[in-house]
Order: sequence, then structure tokens, then C-alpha cells
Amino acid sequence: MIDMDISKIRADFPILSEKIYGKPLIYFDNAATTQKPRCVLDKITELYTTQNANIHRGVHYLSQRATAAHEEARQTVAEFIHAAAAKEIIFTRGTTESINLVATCFSELCKAGDEIVITQMEHHSNIVPWQIAAERKGLHLRIAPIDEKGDLCIKELERLLNSNTKLLAIAHVSNVLGTINPIKQIIAMAHAKNIPVLIDGAQAVAHLAVDVQDLDADFYTFSGHKIYGPTGIGILYGKASWLNKLPPYQGGGEMIQNVTFEKTTFNELPYKFEAGTPDFIGSVALATALNYIKDIGIEHIKEYENYLLQYATERLLEIPQMRLIGTSEHKSGVISFLVGNIHPYDLGLLLDKTGVAVRTGHHCAQPLIDLLGIPGTVRASFALYNTKAEIDDFIEHLQLCINILM
Ligand code: ALA
Repeated sequence: MIDMDISKIRADFPILSEKIYGKPLIYFDNAATTQKPRCVLDKITELYTTQNANIHRGVHYLSQRATAAHEEARQTVAEFIHAAAAKEIIFTRGTTESINLVATCFSELCKAGDEIVITQMEHHSNIVPWQIAAERKGLHLRIAPIDEKGDLCIKELERLLNSNTKLLAIAHVSNVLGTINPIKQIIAMAHAKNIPVLIDGAQAVAHLAVDVQDLDADFYTFSGHKIYGPTGIGILYGKASWLNKLPPYQGGGEMIQNVTFEKTTFNELPYKFEAGTPDFIGSVALATALNYIKDIGIEHIKEYENYLLQYATERLLEIPQMRLIGTSEHKSGVISFLVGNIHPYDLGLLLDKTGVAVRTGHHCAQPLIDLLGIPGTVRASFALYNTKAEIDDFIEHLQLCINILM
């Protein structure tokens, strides 16, 4: 079937052999954060142990070496998502900061009455930054609807895009429903009306191939920790033409060209958006994670995770009173569900006692959960190291928990 040696891959992730309450860990909370392969863990230790020095600020050997590694990491990221140039890659703290950067800076180009379009399936990090910007600049936020399966209503979205629309900001993959949005088609639709598009790629980039040039995305954002890299490092990709138009985000060292008490001129891309000492350990560790993924092959990962999704969906549907939340035909390895009237929190707590890590609650998508009229969901989300055997054990544990709670 799929050309991946899962036991070899699992051996790369030390945490997977941990026991939870004496039971084998079944880690199905990968949409929240992924575990780290040994090469990433080793790289972090190696960098702090042998190469730690501030970058872009020293003539000394260690600083030069750390600077080169950081810039090489930027190139690795650019190649991973097929950006046209490394200067289009801005290091941030994560998807949330990347979207905040664009919301803050892009809204400076807008005037009162302008509109920003998002969708009903967005994570808080692609809602709240726009609400803050809207409040500050007098913008209107328009919300594109989804249907009962959890697919975006494309026609409705198209109707919302009008001559007042300044930007469309949309998730590539929903963190609750698992829906993979047809973003290439959506971007083309928005561009036909001269509207730029920001993609929240937090749930996509570890699971499917992303080519920002092929998509023609204006901005694409993602987090290191959801793609087997460290926490605290993330990416904002922006077309150079857009990044050059935006004012700076934060002020400080690194982002300047020349500072006097009267006036500051700003650095060129990408440094204009990287105030303060960059996370040069995080960037290199992220590049290590991306190279790890590249070696396995993102297409293999996609195929394998799709197999896990299909199998887990079938097995879950064998359980009486199972309700899947998000039944799009185009899904990533994310399954949200409810069973009868059991509160998702209770199910999550009991599952934890069996060694299964799932996420429960609103998944930072409260407006979507409210819209669905549910208290939240239990969410199992897969990564390249999960197995069919884990799904079987999970189903067995789940059935036991249900029997206790019903
Ligand atoms: N956004 C992450 C999730 O969906 C934290 O769990």
C-alpha cells in the first residue's frame, strides 16, 4: 500500500514510547501540536551547546555561523512552500502572530467602510485579529457561510466579495471539521475581483503539499510546532510586492536601516518585519523538521494520513449514537465527534486515563461551535506516526468510556 515504514518513523519520536498512567501513549492530538523527531531535538541541543550566538550582529565566528544557519533555514522554508524568494519568508512566533502582523499592517492600508471577508470555520486566530483591526479602522467583517457537511458555500463567498472587499482571510484546512478548502479555486475567484487572499495554513502544511506560487496566495501562514518543529517559531509568507507595501509591524533592532532621534528608516525584506533578536535556534530546528518531512515525502504522508482518516471514520461509525462533526468529502486527518448526550469533556477525561490524548472543547473556534449548536467536540487528529493498531485500541478504549458514561 503506502510506501512508508511506520515503525521506523515511530522510532524517530522518543515521546511515542512514553507510558501514560502505565499505558502506551496514543497521541491523537496532532492538530494541537505534533511530537518532535529526534533530529529536531538533537539539533536544538547541538545549537545551544556548540553554536549559540546572536545573529546579524557580530563579526565573530559563532555569530557568522549562526547567521548563515538562520538564513539557510529561511531558504529551506522558501523551498518547502515553493516561495519565489527567501526574502518573502518572515519568521514569526507562529500562525497567530503571522495573522496579527498582516491584520495590523494591512489594515493601515484600509479606510473606514472597507470590508474583510473571513469564513464561519475560522480559528480564533483568523477572527480576532481582524475584529481588532476592524474596530481600530472602522472596517466591516463579513462572514462566508458553510453547509451542513462543513464545506464552504463557494457561491455565497463569491457574493460577499465586492468592490469594498480589501482582503479575504481563510483557513486552508479547518481545525475542527477537517475540511480542506479548495483554496486554489477560491484565490482565483478573489483575484478575478482584485482581492488579495491570506491563507491560514496551520492545519495544512504538515499534511499536504503547499506551493504558494501555484496557489497564487498573497499571504500564507503556518506554525513550526504543528509540523514537527519547535514551538515559538512560525512563518508568514507574503508576496514581496505586498510585504513591501505594508508598514512595519514592531519597531526595534534588526528591522531598521538607520536610526536617529528624529527619524528611522526601515530595513529591506525580510528584516523589516523581524524586530528584536530572531529565534535563530527555532528557525534552524524548523528547517530540520521540514527536511525530515521532505525526506519522507509529503505526498506519502498525505496518502497515509488519508488511509488513517478513512479507517478511523469507518470504525467510529460502528459505534451507536456516534455523530461526526464535519463530513466533507475533502478532509484532512481530523475527526471531531460526539456520542449521544455525553459531554465531550467527560469523554476526553476518561480517554486520557486510557492513555489516549485527544482534544476536547471548542478548539479555539467558538463561533463555529455555537453555530453548530453543540457544547464542543472530541477531536482525534492524526500525524504520520499514528497507526491502524492505535486506532483499533482507541476504538476499544472509547467504547469502554462510553459504557461508563451512558
Ligand atoms: N489550533 C490548535 C488546535 O486546533 C491549538 O488544537
